[in-house]
Amino acid sequence: MRTIKIFDTTLRDGEQSPGASMNVDEKVLLAKQLARLGVDIIEAGFAISSKGDFEAIRRIGAEIEGPIVCSLARAREADIKTAYEALKDAPKRRIHTFHSTSDIHLEHQYRISRDEAFRRSVEMVKLARSLVEDVEFSPMDATRTDLGYLCEVLEAVIDAGATTVNIPDTVGYAIPQEFGAMIREIRSRVKNIDKAVISLHCHNDLGLAVANALSAIIEGAGQVECTINGIGERAGNCSMEEVVMALRTRRDYFNADTNINTTEFVKSSRLVTKITGMAVQPNKAIVGANAFAHEAGIHTDGLLKERTTYEIIRPESVGFTKANLVLGKHSGRHAFKARLAELGYQLSDAELEQAFTRFKELADRKKDIFDEDLEALVSEGVSGGDDAFRLEGMEVSGGIGVRPTAVVRLATATGVIERSETGDGPVDAVYRAIAALTETGSSLLKFEVKSITGGTDALGEVTVALEQDGDKVRGHGADTDIIVAAARAYLSAINRLAMRKKTGNPESGV
Ligand code: KIV
Ligand code: ZN
Repeated sequence: MRTIKIFDTTLRDGEQSPGASMNVDEKVLLAKQLARLGVDIIEAGFAISSKGDFEAIRRIGAEIEGPIVCSLARAREADIKTAYEALKDAPKRRIHTFHSTSDIHLEHQYRISRDEAFRRSVEMVKLARSLVEDVEFSPMDATRTDLGYLCEVLEAVIDAGATTVNIPDTVGYAIPQEFGAMIREIRSRVKNIDKAVISLHCHNDLGLAVANALSAIIEGAGQVECTINGIGERAGNCSMEEVVMALRTRRDYFNADTNINTTEFVKSSRLVTKITGMAVQPNKAIVGANAFAHEAGIHTDGLLKERTTYEIIRPESVGFTKANLVLGKHSGRHAFKARLAELGYQLSDAELEQAFTRFKELADRKKDIFDEDLEALVSEGVSGGDDAFRLEGMEVSGGIGVRPTAVVRLATATGVIERSETGDGPVDAVYRAIAALTETGSSLLKFEVKSITGGTDALGEVTVALEQDGDKVRGHGADTDIIVAAARAYLSAINRLAMRKKTGNPESGV
């Protein structure tokens, strides 16, 4: 049985999904969850692309135990040296450098010859290898590269010290049989291929990323690059939960498995959704809400008699549990903190205090409190404290034949400010009041409402996305009162914009 290495790139390629950028604290939080999941390598970012990415890589390298921590770097001296600086404190580190090799890219984008691309790739792998032991090289757009030339590049970079050679299907162009055959050819033509691990990096433009990855594994690839929920550039990347569960479920066929603790998948998926604001479709394999929901009578009949009649994966094995009644009105701080830690949230004392106060308020209004409620409750605090504006109070009136009106009070560093506004609806009135009080110049890109758990006393969760001067941020708010949830979501996004202005954390990406 071969063990396939899982290289997670949620924090780098995943972050390149439109609107999915994460701040440093969010990246560290997610990296901790990836370590619990048992991934072998975390690509924590692209060090030279922004101060935020550099800091995220540095902190993840210093704080996360277990996985190798990796930074992306173009085949340029400054990129590689910056990646090295960011990884200095990581006990297990990797530099992942890349250069395009397809004629399309070389002619139209780089305007250099194949020889020049070859030279730069080899030189930069040598430089990276002089700094760290573990070096990965990616010939970008490999699946549209002349195979003979690709094999020459791979042989040369392995000679130069690359320990992993990654084959990116950058534009999601490959077809499974073709991609498998390409890996087979590489294994037979590249003389020193036994000195490196063959990796793959498949994009999902034709919906074939997981199929292509599995095809490459059959042909001997030893590492898969993937992301939680399959997020990534354009149509996304190979979904980790899908590729890992295909290997686990069909070990008999693949004769290969991974080190992943699959019971952490649902939690990881929800955390990514929470942080990025990108929901998974209900019918998404493995982690979608309907992935284990049987509707047809004949199926439920079979299931009740014997689960394996219609179930190839046990829902518990990927982390689905029956809605957990976790805490109640009388639960104390200790139980609250312990349950949050089990859910993967490590809050600062101030954040914990805030969340606990909100939990107590919620427990007064809502009889049963589930894990999902707790996650929604703390999600507003994930971006960290130091908020410029805090919701101090609000009154809203509306109804049929009445002009919706809102009075909003915000606490700021200099005192409490108040404003009354009318609008097309109660949310509109509240948002007008908040916009005026905060003097925000942002525009609203997205407004989404969803109910957490069932019942009319359920928490409503609102997600918003705002844009200001090209900077995009998200905000979450949760409350049993949906208008209050909407106000919290809007304010959390405005606070984030204010924080980013102060610290400067531009969007990153290749
Ligand atoms: O898709 C791609 O080619 C990449 C490389 C940087 C590996 O993300
Ligand atoms: Zn990619």
